[in-house]
Amino acid sequence: MNAPLIDPFQRAISYLRVSVTDRCDFRCVYCMSENMTFLPKKDLLTLEELDRMCSTFIGLGVEKLRITGGEPLVRRDIMTFFRAMTRHLDSGALKELTLTTNGSQLERFAADLHAAGVRRVNVSLDTLDEGKFAEVTRWGRLPQVLRGIDAAQKAGLRVKINAVALKGFNDSELFELTEWCAARDMDLTWIEVMPMGDLGNEDRLDQYWSLKDLRARLAERYTLVDLAERTGGPARYVRIEETGQKIGFITPLTHNFCESCNRVRLTCTGELYMCLGQEDMADLRAPLRASPQDELLEDAIRRAIGRKPKGHDFDYSRQRADGQMSRHMSHTGG
Ligand code: 5AD
Ligand code: SF4
Repeated sequence: MNAPLIDPFQRAISYLRVSVTDRCDFRCVYCMSENMTFLPKKDLLTLEELDRMCSTFIGLGVEKLRITGGEPLVRRDIMTFFRAMTRHLDSGALKELTLTTNGSQLERFAADLHAAGVRRVNVSLDTLDEGKFAEVTRWGRLPQVLRGIDAAQKAGLRVKINAVALKGFNDSELFELTEWCAARDMDLTWIEVMPMGDLGNEDRLDQYWSLKDLRARLAERYTLVDLAERTGGPARYVRIEETGQKIGFITPLTHNFCESCNRVRLTCTGELYMCLGQEDMADLRAPLRASPQDELLEDAIRRAIGRKPKGHDFDYSRQRADGQMSRHMSHTGG
């Protein structure tokens, strides 16, 4: 039996986020520029290589896989990969297989995802206003996503909504979004906008809406009960007594979660990022391709985990967003 992955700060790595493509059918303003250059297809891990990567991590103790992008469901034949992961759910080695999606393809894939063993999906949705939705996603259309959410729920998938908190944009919809989610039995997580990608060009700092303020506004209308539960990530949760639903707050700019961090991120080209807020990464594609056996890959994974940093260094309090990352969310997979 393989020793589990433990980093230098005694954190066990049990959660792998895997970006299966950098492409997306939307162009959200805080995520991508309008004319993105995507990676050449030859740089991408094939579906077989993604399987080998994930299976190796699972062999080393990863129990939860989250598939991300870009938009994971626009990757050609991605269902083959999901179906391949079912064997790890069946064996019990993998406890959960999930994905984060913009919802555009859910109408098509919800039933297949459920059949592959997916039970929960996170759908990104920042606004219920059709015009605003088109504005923030540039290429997205709200009705298509709403049909996707319907299909997911009908297929038996639990849906959680992720919304990026944007001042002057969806702050006016705080209660509408909350109640819309409650009526559909969906939890809702708010994400503080992060200084990623082309922060300089699009006034991300002006759009910054602190979740402290968001939470205070929620508390004016509802009774919020703090939940102790942590997922090893940057989310904190409360329950709204009146609706019963869970509200999450993801504040990636604070450090308060790093000590319990249980995750690493694999990009679609096989780079392993040990921390969302640090540039350091390990190339796992070379050791994967160097040998049909997994020893080299396992060794590279262990060495990478051996240099997982203690925490990150985002900071909005300075004039410039220090700790600003040059890579896009669509590259690291959120
Ligand atoms: N700040 C915060 N969240 C972001 N996402 C993409 N870019 C950013 C950013 N700059 C979110 C999406 C989605 C998830 C994949 O990442 O809205 O919820
Ligand atoms: Fe696509 Fe998600 Fe980025 Fe929007 S935030 S462009 S949906 S990957």
